Amino acid sequence: MIPVIVIDGPAGTGKGTIAALLAERLGWHLLDSGALYRVLGLAALQQQVSFDDAAELTKLAEALALQFDAGRIFLAGAEVTDAIRTEAVGMAASQVAAHPPVRDALLDWQRQCAQLPGLIADGRDLGTVVFPDAALKIFLDASAEVRANRRYKQLIEKGLSANLFELIADIRERDDRDRNRAVAPLCAAADAVIVDSTTLSIAAVFDRVLEEVRRVF
Ligand code: C5P
Repeated sequence: MIPVIVIDGPAGTGKGTIAALLAERLGWHLLDSGALYRVLGLAALQQQVSFDDAAELTKLAEALALQFDAGRIFLAGAEVTDAIRTEAVGMAASQVAAHPPVRDALLDWQRQCAQLPGLIADGRDLGTVVFPDAALKIFLDASAEVRANRRYKQLIEKGLSANLFELIADIRERDDRDRNRAVAPLCAAADAVIVDSTTLSIAAVFDRVLEEVRRVF
């Protein structure tokens, strides 16, 4: 069986950073499932498909011409690596992700990412739905204020504009939608190890996660 480690949690907990560090340390493949929903959100915005139109969004998901290449992301051949990181696209992603058939359409694509020597996958439902048999499940959490602050710094560092109060409100709205949707809501799997990163640095979280990796492998 191909070893899989999943890292789930709400936006801004640092799970993408931890997943990338872990993939590099172990030399395993990396799946950023949020990027998948973000690309779909961007495609819906570009093609003016309503976020309420589950049937059209599902068609869009089934035909999504997506390519991940060494950390860069392409939609229909055009690079969208930075374009999918805006708050507007994050909001779009969370709205398209609320439709069960849309999620179903993206399941196989995610599962095919499990390749030898192993996969590190991060998202919201990787441990509960996509890889329920993952060898190790981490659920990363942190307070909404701390998460919004981290996002704010990331955006400013990238030279993008940001408003902290809007970010806190956006994170709360997105959390609410992700936690309360009918299918694959954001929640820790029963067998997940919960790590609260509110007062931890990235290095401290990574050490904590490595402890769990050593325990399992
Ligand atoms: O993790 P990230 O902020 O990039 O995810 C963007 C949005 O995509 C989330 O708010 C969530 O609604 C959706 N998502 C999801 N399931 C995943 C990953 C992301 O529903 N496995």
